[in-house]
Amino acid sequence: MTWLVTGGAGYIGAHVVTAMRAQGERVVVLDDLSTGDASRVPEGVPLVHGSVLDGPLVQRTVDRHAVRGVVHLAAKKQVEESVRRPLHYYAENVEGLRVLLDAVVGAGAPWFVFSSSAAVYGAPDVDVVGEDTPCLPVNPYGRTKLIGEQMLADVAGAGGLRYTALRYFNVAGSASPALADRGVSNLVPMVFDRLSRHLPPRVFGDDYDTPDGSCIRDFIHVADIASAHVAAARALAGGQETDHVLNIGRGRGVSVLEMVRTIRDVTGTDAGWAEPVVEPRRPGDPPRVVASAERIRDVLGWEARHDVPEMVRSAWEGWQVSGSAGRR
Ligand code: WQD
Repeated sequence: MTWLVTGGAGYIGAHVVTAMRAQGERVVVLDDLSTGDASRVPEGVPLVHGSVLDGPLVQRTVDRHAVRGVVHLAAKKQVEESVRRPLHYYAENVEGLRVLLDAVVGAGAPWFVFSSSAAVYGAPDVDVVGEDTPCLPVNPYGRTKLIGEQMLADVAGAGGLRYTALRYFNVAGSASPALADRGVSNLVPMVFDRLSRHLPPRVFGDDYDTPDGSCIRDFIHVADIASAHVAAARALAGGQETDHVLNIGRGRGVSVLEMVRTIRDVTGTDAGWAEPVVEPRRPGDPPRVVASAERIRDVLGWEARHDVPEMVRSAWEGWQVSGSAGRR
């Protein structure tokens, strides 16, 4: 059987494709290459250049490759951009999912792994975020992911498919330099970018109600994200009844200041280190978002295996190899 991985030429998608192949799964990739890179798709994996919004193309791809399962990662994911361009996010993330579902359900592909996000929780006021924590997203990006989960629940309820939605926390690192994140829209690459320009890292607020005053996040290695997708896909294909929504995190909080210090230690002072400067809080940033990762361990037997220094070390190697060219 074959899995269709949408967004499989992207940073996270390419890691998922590589991990699925390493486990012997057959894969075909659909990617519009708006942010993905065809060079990330492994040799021997068919790449269909197109959008999930192209229903006939999706249908043809599912039919031609006898697709039985979908891992859906193709989406827009920048919070700040979603605030500026909400309709673009609703078109790509919500209408794109609807068109994709219409095609795959129509073609009888019964299994669906959905890339969701901790952004569905918004600014949770709990020490550890469990899957039953109320979902109150605070930006259009988070709302598109919550709507996606609800759409899947309705389609599954109508008997159309079985699914697992995976709520990622803060993703970092890379399994190899070639697969590194080339975006500059999250903490680790944003600090690298500052370092490479001999500018001090910026800390958006140090007056939060946290031990060191900076925000706390649950950082998770992209290779762990990928292995969780493989586990979820196999559970669905194996007929295992899985909970429909699972957090992917390490269950441990790391503050922004701690992460910045780790970056200093791992990259070494020869990277032109400068002590961080504190800037005003970024609107919408919750003080603490840390996953409970118990349910995914209980349901799929999955646990994160990489620590924060490894995330930073692998991200730094990728940053240096890919250079400034091709950054977004
Ligand atoms: C983390 C913390 C910033 C840069 C992200 C994605 C979201 C979702 C969850 C996928 C915040 C602080 C950052 C900098 C800083 N992922 N920061 N200086 O906002 O937690 O959410 O992960 O679905 O899509 O956006 O991640 O990396 O932007 O910020 O102080 O130069 O680091 O204020 O507290 P965030 P982030």
